[in-house]
Amino acid sequence: MKTLIKNGTVVNSTGTAQADVLIDGEAIAAVLAPGSTLLGFDVESNVDTVIDAAGKYVIPGGIDAHTHMEMPFGGTQASDTFETGTRAAAWGGTTSIVDFVVQYAGENVLDQFHLWHEKARGNCAIDYGFHQILSDVQDSSLTAMDELVAEGVSSFKLFMAYKGVFLSDDGQIVKAMQKASQNGSMIMMHAENGSVIDLLVQQAIAAGNTSPYYHGLTRPWQAEEEATHRAIMLANLTGAPLYVVHVSAKQAVDQIALARDKGQNVFGETCPQYLYLSLEDNLGAPGFEGAKWVCSTPLRSKAEGHQHHMWQSLRTNDIQMVSTDHCPFCMKGQKDMGIGDFSKIPNGIGGVEHRMDLLYQGVVDGNISLERWVEVTSTTPARMFGMYGRKGVIQPGADGDVVIYDPNGHTSIGLPVDDDGVQTGRSHHMNMDYSAYEGYEIDGHVDTVLSRGKVIIDNNQYLGAKGDGKYVKRGLSQYLI
Ligand code: URP
Ligand code: ZN
Ligand code: ZN
Repeated sequence: MKTLIKNGTVVNSTGTAQADVLIDGEAIAAVLAPGSTLLGFDVESNVDTVIDAAGKYVIPGGIDAHTHMEMPFGGTQASDTFETGTRAAAWGGTTSIVDFVVQYAGENVLDQFHLWHEKARGNCAIDYGFHQILSDVQDSSLTAMDELVAEGVSSFKLFMAYKGVFLSDDGQIVKAMQKASQNGSMIMMHAENGSVIDLLVQQAIAAGNTSPYYHGLTRPWQAEEEATHRAIMLANLTGAPLYVVHVSAKQAVDQIALARDKGQNVFGETCPQYLYLSLEDNLGAPGFEGAKWVCSTPLRSKAEGHQHHMWQSLRTNDIQMVSTDHCPFCMKGQKDMGIGDFSKIPNGIGGVEHRMDLLYQGVVDGNISLERWVEVTSTTPARMFGMYGRKGVIQPGADGDVVIYDPNGHTSIGLPVDDDGVQTGRSHHMNMDYSAYEGYEIDGHVDTVLSRGKVIIDNNQYLGAKGDGKYVKRGLSQYLI
């Protein structure tokens, strides 16, 4: 099967050009000057399918390097399965995810890795890889880290919060970091001071402050800054590379920037929720509504300038990339477990479908350039997590993961209602009974999505099938070489 995408504007992180893209089978075969011939052959008359991308951007498929499909968490399970979540991702122009294998204390890391393979295999719409969560860092977990690197899992997430669930103490963190510094893998950190948070939560509940707003107030930026600094120091001690996940506080960004300026291999990821949503507007919504936006790290105060700082950091490369931390829960039957006690609200926001659009709006609004959009949503995730060359770039030899994005199109996010206020459908495909970005209007549209050469989204239709997505055996981070 040969496909020619003609007349488009190809956008890579390195630049933009008018070019035609020839895909042969699952891979990009050539990037050609518009209308050019190949060895004397007219390309267009020698392919099976021609897609006219005139007036549109042709970009490498998005890579969401932080998702939690069907994750057991907070007394329930994330509402998107690998099937529903990856299909929703495809709708939004994301063609690869890296999901987290969960290991709770006492569980065997390799058993969990095999279990996650069983969950994902044959169910995904797009390609997928895995990071491994380590909680109690047993001796067997340390040997498993070597085996997992050989299996294509080259990154390990640790938690400085969630005592009794995920939290690793500093000694355990150092042990995992020592191993990472030996085998070249990346340590990912959930950087919040869990003991401080647990105390503040207890005090808030005891004082009768039980609404979702207090989720934000009991996870203050100081707890994020302190943990980020501590993680950086432990990484410095051990020589391990460090990737701080879901950074939301401007003070945490500053810690990362300082370490980077000193030459340390420290990286930061933020998420669309920290670029668009806030403590005041969302967590502070009336009644129990704020539960929709309970996630950790929490949404920060707009008045304190975190959002503005986050966009700026993306522009200046103090923060390197944007993932969603997609961990959806429905309001009914899941988030509502926390009515009367915000600490029982499952932590997580769904957004895998909207990341490419929300970040494109950042281009329209003048916050980032077109090329930087591609860089933070596709190229850097590919390089950070050992997939670059195959993923993250439009070039010969790369997988045919391509998105045709219409800058003159439009995307309305939310749940459409009729004149009587009755819900008439939904404008997302994630398995959620609400949208975290309800009412957002995007000045752009994902028109066509190809995954390894196969058109899976076109003309507002899903043309793929479950099982199209294959496991991606990742290499080591290409930022460390
Ligand atoms: O609230 C969040 N972020 N839920 C998912 C788990 C995590 O910490 O990434
Ligand atoms: Zn986390
Ligand atoms: Zn997460």
